[in-house]
Amino acid sequence: MTTDLKPHADRVSQTSLKALADARASSAALRAAGWSIDLSRHYLDAEAEAGLLQFGRVSDLQSAADSLFAGDIVNPSESRPALHWALRAQSELSGEAETVRQSVLPALSFARDVVSGSVTSSTGLPFNAVLHIGIGGSDFGPRLIADAFEDKASGNIDLRFCANVDPFDLDRAMHGLDPTRTLVIGVSKSFGTEETLYNLARARTWLEESVGDQSQQHLALVTANPDRAKAWLNGREAHVFDMPLSVGGRFSLWSAASLACMIYLGADTFEGILKGAAEMDAHVRSAPLEENAAMRLALLDYWNATIRNEKMRVLLAYANRLRMLPTYLQQLEMESNGKTVGPTGTMVSGATAPALWGGEGSVGQHSYHQWLHQGSQDVPCEFILAPDRSRDPEGINALTAHALAQAEVLANGRSFDEVKQEEPDLSDEVARQKVHAGGRASTFLVHNTFGPAAFGALVALYEHRTYLAGHLWQLNPFDQWGVERGKTMASRLKPAVEGTAAADDAVTSALIAMIAGD
Ligand code: F6P
Repeated sequence: MTTDLKPHADRVSQTSLKALADARASSAALRAAGWSIDLSRHYLDAEAEAGLLQFGRVSDLQSAADSLFAGDIVNPSESRPALHWALRAQSELSGEAETVRQSVLPALSFARDVVSGSVTSSTGLPFNAVLHIGIGGSDFGPRLIADAFEDKASGNIDLRFCANVDPFDLDRAMHGLDPTRTLVIGVSKSFGTEETLYNLARARTWLEESVGDQSQQHLALVTANPDRAKAWLNGREAHVFDMPLSVGGRFSLWSAASLACMIYLGADTFEGILKGAAEMDAHVRSAPLEENAAMRLALLDYWNATIRNEKMRVLLAYANRLRMLPTYLQQLEMESNGKTVGPTGTMVSGATAPALWGGEGSVGQHSYHQWLHQGSQDVPCEFILAPDRSRDPEGINALTAHALAQAEVLANGRSFDEVKQEEPDLSDEVARQKVHAGGRASTFLVHNTFGPAAFGALVALYEHRTYLAGHLWQLNPFDQWGVERGKTMASRLKPAVEGTAAADDAVTSALIAMIAGD
């Protein structure tokens, strides 16, 4: 089917993006769980779009979606289903999915107890701080949620995060905290991640130096490996919460992994996020291919990356609440589909996931937008506009105008003649430097009443898009063998760094000497 799509790409590449977009501007925007999504500014014409949709049918995206929600083994290398959607289900499920759905309830209940004061610190006083320790999928999601809805926090709890093995990260996170009033939450699905175990051990010592063996009241662990957690506790007690094995780390922000956010923002706000995600699940389960936002975005990812060979996608979050979303989605998409070998062990054909980067709009306009407009590469962008209408309308209108302006200029450019017409006194030399090539494709997503539900729906949309794009690329989006080698090599190099052994690699040896100041 890919061969059938290439001629379409060749044809539309001969046409200006503006012409293609103008022809599709009236085509209906997709609607999904309160989000509106415009796909008109892409290198597609009606024929190419029909071919892409046909590719989606032949690739059986519908069966892929059905398999996910049926709890089939969609993660073959670990022989597991992917049940992150069950965590936010709003009605009772069955089998393992129901077990997963119920797994988040003890964390929500504990969070309510901490907030109400029925669970206190060892002093009998309420906790006034939570220190979340985790990394990757055990950090990005909770950090994003806490940052996005900081204004919904009660103000009684100071929430800190620590992820890096660089000791400054934990030092900075613990600075100013009172260990007698702090709850340390260690999140690790494997309970085997070096950075997290290192930081947890330091935090436990910090607690024990202050509250002695009462530290157990100040420690909560969230993991899919309770045996390892028990061994680490070494006879001590702690609050331990389940993180189901069938929920991938980068798909786990709906789970007890977000216990810190449930406490910091209140369980009701967190449940609002779950409800929004469930609404998106309902859309993805039922909408026909042409109207299915996740399927259409997955097809567009395939079209841009594999057919048009775009190496990047730039995510521009025009909402301060979503300033951490690009970082979160980098793990979701690049750790899921940054692969070239599928479950069959064979190399897949064509390019797969692009590099995803980006940041907060309008801030990025004072940084990399110069590159986007006049750099040597035209890369597709993705605007997410979530105007908070409870805020000052002048700022919201300015934010909206900037987002619209950037998308239009990126797509339509500015010719030499247009520059000269608007600025006739300019020298030709300067006028040529003001030309914008244009031709930059973009997707535009907008939600007009952004809040916890809209946030949940958006993240669920990207989860489904990532899974379905992985299906199109014939990959397994749920494992991450590529991250294992680096960890293994790091543990092998530690003796060389500590000077008790030699490194095998000549450059590494020279670098160790350089670092040691030899
Ligand atoms: O980056 C590898 C990885 O396994 C991620 O997939 C995961 O989110 C992160 O490390 C943390 O893993 P854990 O939750 O097991 O500590």
